[in-house]
Amino acid sequence: MNGKVNRVVLIGTGAVGCSYAYSLINQGTVEELVLIDVNEFRAEGEVMDLNHGLPFAPSSIKIWNGSYKDCAEADLVVITAGLPQKPGETRLDLVRKNTMIFKDIVKNIMDNDFDGIFLIATNPVDILTYVTWKESGLPKERVIGSGTTLDTARLRYMLGDYFDIDSRNVHAYIIGEHGDTELPVWSHTTIGVERLETYLAKNSEYNQEQLESLFENVRDAAYHIIERKGSTYYGIGMSLTRITKAILQNENCILPVSVYLDGEYGHQDVFIGTPAVINRNGVKQVIELELNDVEKQQFDHSVKVLKEIILPISN
Ligand code: 2OP
Repeated sequence: MNGKVNRVVLIGTGAVGCSYAYSLINQGTVEELVLIDVNEFRAEGEVMDLNHGLPFAPSSIKIWNGSYKDCAEADLVVITAGLPQKPGETRLDLVRKNTMIFKDIVKNIMDNDFDGIFLIATNPVDILTYVTWKESGLPKERVIGSGTTLDTARLRYMLGDYFDIDSRNVHAYIIGEHGDTELPVWSHTTIGVERLETYLAKNSEYNQEQLESLFENVRDAAYHIIERKGSTYYGIGMSLTRITKAILQNENCILPVSVYLDGEYGHQDVFIGTPAVINRNGVKQVIELELNDVEKQQFDHSVKVLKEIILPISN
């Protein structure tokens, strides 16, 4: 880490990478932003386009089309590169193809003396975060996946809409795999200052059954969006910006990211979404929620599914 200015290197200038870059420069989080893509010409075009908006940005920032050499001075490397999810394809279907791509990218980054924090967004994100950790040899605290940050944002948005309460006052988490086996932690959900259970008891027009179908919409949101517009990128772009701010501004903020479990929830050797305290050093603390029996069973299942995928690719 150079300790002077915050430098983010973004690998992958597809729709997700560029939505992140756009959101980042509009929130004034970073002083240097380096874009790298296999298609250098495209990255060059994106740099030109982003630079032309800088007179309207909240703070000054240098953006350039760089190379892996720029990773030596980077505080954060964000990877959004890889093949996207196709209609009908699960995130896990993508695993082998994107693992190969990642091994190559991470090697290039580490060969150029990177010593900062990794933030991974490419799907299947929990698996590719694990691959990044293994390939990089960095401490587990410095490898973070976007995890269920976006799913949690979707849940809070939808709960806010359902209860007609500002989503910023809705405290709810999705944990587990960023994908089909994720789960909502209803037992720790609060609407404003009230526990969900109390809130439902007091307001009979709302019920748990509707909340279950709302969760299904959260879980399947990516499929619904992909069906309509081919891919998702704004939500994940803003989620990555949120995590970036937590890191670079040393926030000690709690976010549901994909982190390495080392005994938490009775599991280890897996990256999975759970709330964690994030700061300038990466993951300060993994928060182990006290789950009820149903939630624990669902979380265990999510771990099992991820481990079954990790096993053949980690050798
Ligand atoms: C999303 O959830 C596809 O992972 C992406 O929007």
